[in-house]
Amino acid sequence: MRKSRSVRTFLYAAGAVAAAVLVTAASASSGGPSDPGIRPKDPDGAITQHALDAIREGRRTFRFDTFGDEAFWGDTLRLHEAIEGAAHGGVGPGLSPRQAIAAGLKVDVDALPGSVRSDIRQGRANLDDPAVTLALLRLNAVVGVTGFFQHNGQLRSVGLQCAVCHSVVDDSFAPGIGHRLDGWANRDLNVGAIINLAPDLSVVDALLGVDDATTRQVLMSWGPGKFDAELFMDGKAFRPDGGSAATLIPPAFGLAGGNLHTWTGWGSVTHWNAFVANLEMHGKGRFWDPRLKDGVRFPIAAANGFDNVNPGLSPDDDRITPKLADLHLYQLAIPAPKPPEGSFDKDAAERGDALFTGKARCNSCHVEPLWTEPGWNMHTADEIGIDDFQANRAPDQRYRTAPLAGLWTHTKGGFYHDGRFATLLDVVNHYDAFLNLGLTAQEKNDLVEYLKSLPGGD
Ligand code: HEC
Ligand code: HEC
Repeated sequence: MRKSRSVRTFLYAAGAVAAAVLVTAASASSGGPSDPGIRPKDPDGAITQHALDAIREGRRTFRFDTFGDEAFWGDTLRLHEAIEGAAHGGVGPGLSPRQAIAAGLKVDVDALPGSVRSDIRQGRANLDDPAVTLALLRLNAVVGVTGFFQHNGQLRSVGLQCAVCHSVVDDSFAPGIGHRLDGWANRDLNVGAIINLAPDLSVVDALLGVDDATTRQVLMSWGPGKFDAELFMDGKAFRPDGGSAATLIPPAFGLAGGNLHTWTGWGSVTHWNAFVANLEMHGKGRFWDPRLKDGVRFPIAAANGFDNVNPGLSPDDDRITPKLADLHLYQLAIPAPKPPEGSFDKDAAERGDALFTGKARCNSCHVEPLWTEPGWNMHTADEIGIDDFQANRAPDQRYRTAPLAGLWTHTKGGFYHDGRFATLLDVVNHYDAFLNLGLTAQEKNDLVEYLKSLPGGD
């Protein structure tokens, strides 16, 4: 009895206190979370809604935002003049749709009105005419490239987007024309050959400190599917063995959960986004990375203040920083695509799975299901049995354990940062020899089938 009475007294007292708090909160101009008036209505729903909004906005940025880089690609390099050609107010023969597609540019079929689709299907659109390229640009149908037009319809400038290198199309309409596949590495794209079309590369010559012929020779040495992001930091265009120093364009999917990104682990996804948007695409924003002050390792970056870009830029004029959060979330949201049914041998892949974590020891670095290490996912060249040239071009002087999900989408151009291994079997043979794994031919084949099956998961 006594006990229950004291409990009741306590409850009564507590209720009185709560009521007092409520009254106080209601009469105050700002209350705490206990104020039903200001408590978010549906905090969980708000998070989901925020994620959806951010992903939508990030997708828009990834596909269509030039960050103002047309000031560089168009106004400075005059790339648009080479695209339109002399007949349309530019220079040279112009770039026909056939040439654009041959250079790896992709056309988004969803941006084409029905009339244009049937013109292409029925051969009424002349794919050898640069005027048709201009029409495609006007429709915003060239993936990752935006044309800016004057009132009189003439191409005034051109800007580039993330999607030019990190999206492809599914070729459902024709080779090079189809629905967008964001995050896929465009291993057809000859970035160097496209930049080489620009009539005026004098700013690039000045940056690299070389003559125009040398700049153009370097650009043409990259080849399809490659770009050299470090060239504009250290000026190294060729490896010690004379090969191009450019690296393969990696996929931008399946990256969530991984710590460091890029082949050599420059930073997180969002570090690299800011890096690329400012220093490679030449958009207008702020960037801070004091590691680039090292004039011995990054002479070009240090001489040009790439460690601290646009310190005085007003936030109102910053066209990159406000986009970074949504762009980040979008990339982390892109899943690695699953391989098509029948594209690998299931039984062999299952045996390969066991080898991957067992005898072949792959899982010690490519930890399933991230297929990179949880934590500091970096290794020295010695640990993976290759040279350290590219590792030494990055601050950490290491290679990042490449995530393996979706390998089947980027077999073109080879594997490892520079494509030194033409096939997955070559990769497995490398590890077999380097790590003395003693794999049989059958086991190697099983491992390859497993690699082709990733991301797997039923
Ligand atoms: C001209 C082609 C090109 C453009 C444009 C480009 N990238 Fe990349 N991207 C690359 C290359 C090449 C690398 C590898 C760089 C390295 O490792 O040195 C890379 C690396 C990346 C990575 C790291 C992937 C990984 O494996 O960890 C991400 C993420 C990425 N880019 C996102 C973007 C975004 C977002 C944009 C637009 C702001 C963009 N890229 C613009 C070519 C490009
Ligand atoms: C010591 C850590 C380590 C081990 C063990 C290891 N890898 Fe790797 N792997 C790496 C690193 C680091 C890279 C990136 C190399 C580069 O950037 O050139 C890589 C790259 C790869 C690639 C190329 C990915 C691409 O996008 O081009 C494949 C495929 C691969 N590894 C498969 C395997 C297999 C199969 C095994 C087991 C036989 C294995 N790895 C064992 C660290 C490791």
